[in-house]
Amino acid sequence: MPEFDVYLEDRRQQFEEDLCELLRIPSVSADRRYAADVRRAAEWVANQLAALGLHVETIETERHPIVYAESPPVPGAPVALVYGHFDVQPPDPLDEWISPPFEPTRREGNLYARGATDDKGQMLTHLKSVQAWIETQGKLPLQVKFVIEGEEEVGSRSLYTFLDEHHDRLACDTVVISDTSMFGPDQPAITYGLRGIAYFELRLTGPKQDLHSGTFGGAVANPANALAKLLAGLVNERGQIQVPGFYDDVLPLTDQERRQFAELQKRVGDADFMRQIGVEGLKGEEGYTSLEQRWARPTCDINGLWSGYQGEGAKTVLPAKAGAKFSFRLVPNQDPKKITASLQAFLKERCPPGIKMELISFHGAPGVVVPLESPYVSAAARAIEQGFGRAPVFIREGGSIPVVSTFHEKLGVDTLLLGWGQNDDNTHSPNEKFCLADYHKGIKASAHLWQELSVVSRQ
Ligand code: BES
Ligand code: MN
Ligand code: MN
Repeated sequence: MPEFDVYLEDRRQQFEEDLCELLRIPSVSADRRYAADVRRAAEWVANQLAALGLHVETIETERHPIVYAESPPVPGAPVALVYGHFDVQPPDPLDEWISPPFEPTRREGNLYARGATDDKGQMLTHLKSVQAWIETQGKLPLQVKFVIEGEEEVGSRSLYTFLDEHHDRLACDTVVISDTSMFGPDQPAITYGLRGIAYFELRLTGPKQDLHSGTFGGAVANPANALAKLLAGLVNERGQIQVPGFYDDVLPLTDQERRQFAELQKRVGDADFMRQIGVEGLKGEEGYTSLEQRWARPTCDINGLWSGYQGEGAKTVLPAKAGAKFSFRLVPNQDPKKITASLQAFLKERCPPGIKMELISFHGAPGVVVPLESPYVSAAARAIEQGFGRAPVFIREGGSIPVVSTFHEKLGVDTLLLGWGQNDDNTHSPNEKFCLADYHKGIKASAHLWQELSVVSRQ
């Protein structure tokens, strides 16, 4: 498709400027103060889609709007549904950014801004590829539907309601999501597995107010001590989670999968991995390689922790309260609800006298694996090879996109996880970036994807 190459080459600058425009909108979904900006990002996406002549709706929800769009049906061709998100994570800590998070800046072939890779840049590749088709061919070779939401980073609640109410309109043959990573620089990948998540906040309350730790310490249970002990008890020395029944439903890795992971592990040694994140040792679940630990084994991580005196110098206080946020990454077949119930009982039993405990459960989502024996996967692999000049490898990843299992449940379809990011893109961290060359290759791969998918006979 030589006309695409010319067209895409001519539009490089414009496509980058469009992305910068979207990146300047601080659409932080977690923070109420940015609600108007999340809405502005929705409007920006809706306007882009409308400019392509698509039928577009901006759906109001209890929280942030959802943008839905569709191109005209193409009889006989499959229907693809693109999912993405225009909301971003909070940018803090702000003082660690080299350039401000909402002032996109080019450095060494990368574009730095919050949301550059997660997910504004990746999501936009599919809008731009549709633009390429419409402006060079006049139409798409298949029907493409878009569901772009503004609550992914806070659990996608409104999206679930939307999927429940509109699953008939969203009927499709495959879902396409670009919100994951490549295996490494110049090595594209198709992700066939993601972990799930179960996220909690634990609040402990002891005496009615902070106490003098000399006068009272020793007789009264200290909520901070209790919290440290409860949390430490969640994982043993061998990296195994101690909540009863936690591993009951875990599907063991097959020998074949372990061999495939081992092949990939040869290409990213642990030494490189350690250098990338700045650590001098690794510690995970015993008996598993680091790729297995990150992609296919469940974990427990504390995400935030607070209690007592945080100011300068020492203060001898026995705090009245302590709290933590922590989460388990889950693997396919583990049930977040079952784990929540078991965790509640486990903590309750261990909570010492004199401490009141409250466990709050936030979003939960099961892990997923998508079958690779599908003509849509082969079509995607061909498209990636044309876009990136290299065939993809098949990987799993440790992050979560909760809606993938919902699409399977409600629409009965599998998802193609075609990530254009890199593991060192600093997602959710300071100095998030997206490689501009991969942005353009992603657009090209997506343009080829529409062609390749359009000729798959519907399953
Ligand atoms: N794009 C990520 C998901 C992701 C990250 C996939 C890394 C593969 C590798 C997404 O925006 C995200 O951050 N998801 C959250 C889910 C949570 C908010 C329910 C996550 O994984 O923490
Ligand atoms: Mn994302
Ligand atoms: Mn994210």
